[in-house]
Amino acid sequence: MNVRQFTEQELAAVLAIQSACPEAAQWREEDYTHLARDPAGLLLIAESEAVVSATSAMGQEEQILGCNSASVLGFAAFCLIADEAELRNLAVAREHRQRGVGRALLDKAHGRLRRAGVKRVYLEVRASNNPAIGLYASMGYSILSTRNKYYPDPPEDAYVWSLDL
Ligand SMILES: CC(C)(COP(=O)(O)OP(=O)(O)OC[C@H]1O[C@@H](n2cnc3c(N)ncnc32)[C@H](O)[C@@H]1OP(=O)(O)O)[C@@H](O)C(=O)NCCC(=O)NCCS
Repeated sequence: MNVRQFTEQELAAVLAIQSACPEAAQWREEDYTHLARDPAGLLLIAESEAVVSATSAMGQEEQILGCNSASVLGFAAFCLIADEAELRNLAVAREHRQRGVGRALLDKAHGRLRRAGVKRVYLEVRASNNPAIGLYASMGYSILSTRNKYYPDPPEDAYVWSLDL
């Protein structure tokens, strides 16, 4: 698996993963393209190694064609605010879950954020989202506070988690 910066070639794949994933924030196309262009944004994708090596053996044109939705396993989106960052969106395609993709996305992001001078990362998660909570806990995040009935449809508390980088 390879984790790298999002490019607009991956937009359709990212939207497809998001829309199959109700726990993810449901963003519009321009939310991704604006974040990717924003110096205060960090948008990473994980792609499968098999497709990376197949495309690197091809020419440039095939490489572009090779970046199809099958190669994108998941994505993570952050915003930087001074020396803090927020995880704004995260999803892994259902068929690729529990194989370390979420952890790889966060690991790579933490390294990049640290190098950009970020000291602390925050995120919000639904209280019932056990896979995400398991991921954050396993990566050293801890609960900072609870926001009562923060989420609508269905109404549910949000846990605010943070990690000192
Ligand atoms: C949360 C999510 C990103 C995790 O991605 P993933 O690639 O499956 O996670 P990983 O395989 O990297 O798992 C890393 C750790 O997370 C925890 N974890 C992952 N899936 C879990 C599950 N279903 N239940 C409990 N813990 C889980 C485990 O601690 C795991 O470590 P282990 O494999 O050593 O046990 C994925 O389930 C997902 O896309 N969910 C829907 C979208 C979402 O909830 N986004 C977050 C919104 S705040």
